[in-house]
Amino acid sequence: MLRHAFRRCILVIAMPIALACSGGSVFGYSSGPPDGFANDPPTFMNCTTCHRDYELNQGAGELAVEGLPPAFAPGTVYPLEVVLEDPGQQRWGFELTVLDAADEAAGTLAVVDPVNTALSDNPDSEADYLKHTLEGTYEGDPGPVSWAFEWTAPDVPGVTFYLTGNGADGDFTSNGDYIYAVAVELMRDEGTAVQETSWGRIKRLYRK
Ligand code: HEC
Repeated sequence: MLRHAFRRCILVIAMPIALACSGGSVFGYSSGPPDGFANDPPTFMNCTTCHRDYELNQGAGELAVEGLPPAFAPGTVYPLEVVLEDPGQQRWGFELTVLDAADEAAGTLAVVDPVNTALSDNPDSEADYLKHTLEGTYEGDPGPVSWAFEWTAPDVPGVTFYLTGNGADGDFTSNGDYIYAVAVELMRDEGTAVQETSWGRIKRLYRK
C-alpha cells in the first residue's frame, strides 16, 4: 500500500518537471541563457561561446549596473538595474552573478520583475545567476533597455559583479549579436577606512 502511494507520489512530482524541461527546449535559448555565462571565474565563459559572429566587447554598445553605492553596507538591500544599449540592435539579453574573493556567491540576489527576469538560485555557496526571460528580451525595442533587481549585501570585505549582455539583431538566431562583458568590483564600507584616508590627505597637504 505504502509503496504504491510512494510510486504515485514520484509520478506526480516527476511529470511536471519533465514537462517543464521539454517546454524549455521548445522555447530555446532566448528564453534565458544557461548558467555560467556571465564571464565569471573560474571558467570566464560568456555568450560568445554560441553568439560568435563578433569578439567580446567589439560592438558600439554599452553594458552597466546602475545604482551601485561607492561601498556597500552589509545587510543593506540595494535596488539595482542592468542597463544595456547598442545602436541599431533590437533584441536584448543579459546574465549576472555576484561573487566574493573566493569566487563564491556573495550576498543575495532577488527578482523584483518576474516578467522580464529570472533567477537560478543555486544551492549553498554556488554562484546564482540572474538573467532575462523570453519576455525580457524586449523584442523590437531599440533600447537602451534595463532589467531591475535587488541585491542584499553580505558581510565580506569585497565582491565583484560579473555580467554579460547581448545586443541582438532580433533574427531569432545566435548570429549578428554583439556580446558585452563587464566586471565591477565593490568594497565593504569601512567607517575607519574613510578616516584613515582623510588623515593621510591632511598629512600630504602639510608636507608640500
Ligand atoms: C549554448 C549556446 C548559447 C549560449 C551560451 C547563449 N546563447 Fe543566446 N541563443 C542561443 C541560440 C541557439 C539562440 C537562437 C535560438 C533562440 O532564440 O532560442 C539564442 C538567442 C538569443 C537571443 C535572441 C537573439 C535574436 O537575435 O533574436 C538573446 C537575446 C540571447 N540568446 C541572449 C543570450 C545571452 C545574454 C547569453 C549569455 C549570457 C546567451 N544568449 C548565451 C544559444 C546560446
